[in-house]
Amino acid sequence: MNPKYLVFLLAASLQICSIAALTNSDDLTKLKALMDIWENLPPSWEGTDPCGDQWDGIKCINSRVTSITLSSMGLKGQMSGDITNLPELQILDLSYNKDLRGPLPASIGNLKKLKYLILVGCSFSGPIPNSVGSLQQLVYLSLNSNAFTGPIPPSIGNLSELYWLDLADNKLDGNIPVSTDTTPGLDMLVKTKHFHLGKNQLSGEIPSKLFSSDMTLIHVLFDSNKLTGSIPSTLALVQTLEVIRFDRNSLIGPVPSNLNVLTNVSELFLSNNGLTGPLPNLTGMSFLNYLDISNNSFDASDFPRWISTLQSLTTLMMEGTQLQGQIPPSFFSLANLQTVVLSNNRLNGTLDIGTINSDQLQLIDLQTNSISDYTPKPGQKQVDIILVNNPVCQETGVIASYCTVSRPNSSYVTLPNNCVPIPCRSNQISSPNCNCAYAYTGLLVFRAPSFSDLGNITIYISLQRSLMDSFRSNQLPVDSVSLSNPRKDLSEYLDLNLQVFPFDRDYFNQTIISQIGFVLSNQTFKPPKFFGPYYFIGDVYHYFAGEATRSNNSSNTGIIIGAVAGGSALLLLLVLAGLYAYRQKKRAERATEWNNPFAHWDSTKSSGAGFPQLKGARFFSFEELKKYTNNFSEANDIGSGGYGKVYRGVLPNGQLIAIKRAQQESLQGALEFKTEIELLSRVHHKNVVSLLGFCFERGEQMLIYEFVPNGSLNESLSGKSGIRLDWVRRLKIALGAARGLAYLHELANPPIIHRDIKTTNILLDERLNAKVADFGLSKPMSDTEKGHITTQVKGTMGYLDPEYYMTQQLTEKSDVYSFGVVMLELLTARKPIERGKYIVREVRMAMDRTKDLYNLHELLDPSIGLQTTLKGLDKFVDLAMECVKESGADRPIMGDVVKEIENILQLAGLNPNAESASTSASYEEAGKGSPRHPYSKDAFDYSGAFPPSKLEPQ
Ligand SMILES: *[C@@H]1O[C@H](CO)[C@@H](O)[C@H](O)[C@H]1NC(C)=O
Ligand SMILES: *[C@@H]1O[C@H](CO)[C@@H](O)[C@H](O)[C@H]1NC(C)=O
Ligand SMILES: *[C@@H]1O[C@H](CO)[C@@H](O)[C@H](O)[C@H]1NC(C)=O
Ligand SMILES: *[C@@H]1O[C@H](CO)[C@@H](O)[C@H](O)[C@H]1NC(C)=O
Ligand SMILES: *[C@@H]1O[C@H](CO)[C@@H](O)[C@H](O)[C@H]1NC(C)=O
Repeated sequence: MNPKYLVFLLAASLQICSIAALTNSDDLTKLKALMDIWENLPPSWEGTDPCGDQWDGIKCINSRVTSITLSSMGLKGQMSGDITNLPELQILDLSYNKDLRGPLPASIGNLKKLKYLILVGCSFSGPIPNSVGSLQQLVYLSLNSNAFTGPIPPSIGNLSELYWLDLADNKLDGNIPVSTDTTPGLDMLVKTKHFHLGKNQLSGEIPSKLFSSDMTLIHVLFDSNKLTGSIPSTLALVQTLEVIRFDRNSLIGPVPSNLNVLTNVSELFLSNNGLTGPLPNLTGMSFLNYLDISNNSFDASDFPRWISTLQSLTTLMMEGTQLQGQIPPSFFSLANLQTVVLSNNRLNGTLDIGTINSDQLQLIDLQTNSISDYTPKPGQKQVDIILVNNPVCQETGVIASYCTVSRPNSSYVTLPNNCVPIPCRSNQISSPNCNCAYAYTGLLVFRAPSFSDLGNITIYISLQRSLMDSFRSNQLPVDSVSLSNPRKDLSEYLDLNLQVFPFDRDYFNQTIISQIGFVLSNQTFKPPKFFGPYYFIGDVYHYFAGEATRSNNSSNTGIIIGAVAGGSALLLLLVLAGLYAYRQKKRAERATEWNNPFAHWDSTKSSGAGFPQLKGARFFSFEELKKYTNNFSEANDIGSGGYGKVYRGVLPNGQLIAIKRAQQESLQGALEFKTEIELLSRVHHKNVVSLLGFCFERGEQMLIYEFVPNGSLNESLSGKSGIRLDWVRRLKIALGAARGLAYLHELANPPIIHRDIKTTNILLDERLNAKVADFGLSKPMSDTEKGHITTQVKGTMGYLDPEYYMTQQLTEKSDVYSFGVVMLELLTARKPIERGKYIVREVRMAMDRTKDLYNLHELLDPSIGLQTTLKGLDKFVDLAMECVKESGADRPIMGDVVKEIENILQLAGLNPNAESASTSASYEEAGKGSPRHPYSKDAFDYSGAFPPSKLEPQ
């Protein structure tokens, strides 16, 4: 064996060993010290091994504490210097703990590895220490909604990796710092996309030096401060800008005339300042949705014509802007209009609203103008027009509806999901699925939404969906979310109440609350784009044990409920204890979650040390691949997914290849990429897709596979590929896939658990032989771990082994479960979860062994060839049901699955070892163009309910 390969393996196994080590004793001391000063730490903070014992909110790598996330815990106390002596700390999130107060210690600058400092919605006060500027790795700094005072430390300008800067909603004063010869400033933050500095007491001018064409800002929010002077024309250099809020300051002078070059801007707020000169000419800002320039001292002017050219405009706020003359009727025909506020101007003449093209137009507010006439057109769309305080309302004797103030009121609350809400005991809330539970609650605040029609429920539904998607893709056991009471606050922020409901139980534990909190505090959750920038303020969660755990105002009711609920709580405790015992005691986070696993690889010296020596796989250069794919042309793009795109290419020798090209920014993808290379280069079997090589160059990560021409099993079963699979073909495919898996489990060295077996990951070659693909989630089984690996649950809903889901213990039997689901899919051609129905349960319920075809006629895929006799179908169903047994121990191993399928094939009169027939004779092409290719990653594409275990009968 190549010695370099040995060294590589050795290094890899050392890393695995160190995972089991106890917590570093220095780190332990620091955490213990925290326990003395903070109240309400989670009860799991006990003992001497935070890493191994999984203290809530603590994550470790190589026995060092790397992450502390404790949002919404109700922590009480001051920020301690101890926390700043955890040298490996990368993430600190203490958000939503209203009782954390006092200053941040200057020693925070010691946390040299810190990437995320998130202290949203606490009560910290005093100045932000200048030492934050020495946190060189910081990408994310969120200190908003505290009580910080003093100036913005200029040293923040040194944070060259900073992506997110949120200091909003504090009491900061002084100027916005820019660099000088001797001091740094915010103008140096060329990687930063967000300057959220609103709701402070910042003063002085917005320095023209602040903005330059090197910057990549998308959101600049300086609203509600005391800024003076004029808007610098350098703002127009920042071409990436999308949202600008300078409103509610004391800005003066004319709006720079070059502002309209910022054509990506969708929300522009300049209202409530003392801006003078002509109205800005915003011609060309074709993505502008929301324009608010109300209450300034612009020169008197007619209603500008350019406004009627802003095709994306939803909202025009021009209250008190000295407008005069008539509004051109063409303006009201803009297709996306929702709200028009032109009150307190000198608009006169007859109001003619022409033709309304927008079915979202809700309000035209023209209060306090000089409009003398208005006649609603018959059949005109229902729009609230307000003409109070205009001559037209003063002169007519009739009280017309437009002469009263009636703003459309929008109330929204998430409706129950086809169920009847039940009364809940106090502190519990009925979820959209009509379960009573202790919800996690808080306030979602959107700082600059692109819309103003708060009555359109589709926007809330899309927000609910994206929240659920985000919780699910972060593997959080959330049943549902509810939104209610949308409202604009005085600064035009949109507030929404959010409730998050636990899945399958009626409360969340500390682990989950801190993770949900982090998804929102770190902005891992991205709402649909039209919501714009947001923040979340979570309430402290009191129900970690299923009832109020800490005395709050209503502690009396808590005791009474506690007594009533005592019996069931005891039961719950027993169940929990059982689960605990079942779990492996020592578990540590696998390393390198945050690190680029290729950091030490240098592709330019591909023969040098440190470069992995891979069996049978080689390095491809970017240039080579570019050539083979015709410059990654669209014609060669054969599939895509969360991971990136898949291209087809041709090697100089004529061999077809499939290139899986990772999206650049995905760290998770990088880890999967590395896993795949290492594992795949070691596996060689005719039922496993072979890796030919990889490319790691110019920030690209690509895997080069053999090309498997007939797409995925999923495409064939769903009819997408035009390949019809009869019963015998299905048996052969099952056999091939089972052999591939059995090889991985039993013969590969080290054995490998695939972890994402599903029909989209089983590919069919030109002879319809099955090949197992996509090792992005796979894990090698290490001998030292006694038959299972404790790991974060990953996989695809519907295929996920419920035992693994419950215990987080991964064994090869989890693949067996997924394979059982694939067998059922082979029989029925149904998705594992379709319209809330779980295939395992459906088959189990319909099945009757005394009847013909086990009584499964209704469920079987018609194209299986029901008219012919399906020899061995009963045995196949029996085998599938064995594979999906509740307990892994009761499931067969893959080797036995292979043997049984071989038996079934023999029963059907076939030689299991015969090659498949060639394609031309054996299936019909649909002729709908080439099938899309399935190498793409779509793990966790939850298409239905969550998780399958819920759908299982008890
Ligand atoms: C506004 O700007 C556009 C193009 O920049 C120009 O054609 C137009 O005449 C200007 N309108 C006014 C009123 O200045
Ligand atoms: C409306 O106001 C403009 C400018 O103030 C004036 O020139 C015009 O005569 C007025 N029109 C009517 C119909 O009052
Ligand atoms: C609601 O909003 C969606 C998305 O913005 C839009 O397509 C739809 O037309 C709106 N519906 C109504 C009734 O305004
Ligand atoms: C917290 O809850 C999740 C799921 O609800 C569970 O997987 C996890 O084991 C629980 N953690 C603890 C420490 O009980
Ligand atoms: C924080 O959120 C960003 C997206 O805003 C995401 O890329 C990143 O992975 C998250 N960080 C962690 C530690 O999950």
